[in-house]
Amino acid sequence: MNSSNFSLTPESLPKHVAIIMDGNGRWAKKRALNRIRGHREGTESVRDIVQVSREVGVKVLTLYAFSTENWKRPSMEVAALMKLLKNFLKSELSEMMENSICLNAIGDIKKLPYDVLDVLSEVMDATRQNQGMILNLALSYGSRHELVRAARRIANQVKEGQLEPDEITEELLSSNLYTHNMPDPDVLIRTSGEMRVSNFLLWQIAYSEIFVTKTLWPDFRREEFIQILSDYQKRERRFGLTGA
Ligand code: IPE
Ligand code: IPE
Ligand code: MG
Repeated sequence: MNSSNFSLTPESLPKHVAIIMDGNGRWAKKRALNRIRGHREGTESVRDIVQVSREVGVKVLTLYAFSTENWKRPSMEVAALMKLLKNFLKSELSEMMENSICLNAIGDIKKLPYDVLDVLSEVMDATRQNQGMILNLALSYGSRHELVRAARRIANQVKEGQLEPDEITEELLSSNLYTHNMPDPDVLIRTSGEMRVSNFLLWQIAYSEIFVTKTLWPDFRREEFIQILSDYQKRERRFGLTGA
């Protein structure tokens, strides 16, 4: 289906959509498959959602791919996820170049295995100039880690005498987060029905519009995504002010 079949209003499209891609394991379990098969199928959803986001004109798409807590999963699963990530990055590079997608990563990426980090750096370098859309992958990402890191960076600036405590503002804190060069998410989507944030973008989602769908991530494809964008356009964002 072509996205032009839906009536999205270009002026009120979300600039930044963030997604907690959850439910790969349950998708596999329902089919009596290994969890890894769920993750593999999930990469097909990633391809689909990246493509449709670019088509409709979303400027930043942030995908929560691996959390700081996910390191505690069985080592076989972690290894399989790392391999999938590496293969995804390698296989998607040409598509990213064709569609002018800039790949960025947020998170404690130095914890990634060397070979994954190598490919990640290569793809980030190769796509740096692309202006069509930022595909922002949250990898070894945890919001609490990100906030502690920001606090340390700011504390160091104060210690060095470059900053007065009174100069610590919301803008300054934002500028010390991994997401410093992007707007806050307008939309936060979580698949698989869980009603929690799981340490994702705690600061940045202060005024995001939240959508939780029961659909498991491997089943989440373009039609449902566009439906969410369309529902978003019908919402009234009040930012604490009075309604229309
Ligand atoms: C999301 O799917 C992928 C990652 C967290 C890496 P899960 O693996 O969490 O799937 P469920 O929640 O067990 O179904
Ligand atoms: C959140 O999913 C992390 C990612 C989608 C990468 P989890 O499956 O890890 O979250 P919990 O454990 O259900 O909160
Ligand atoms: Mg999960």
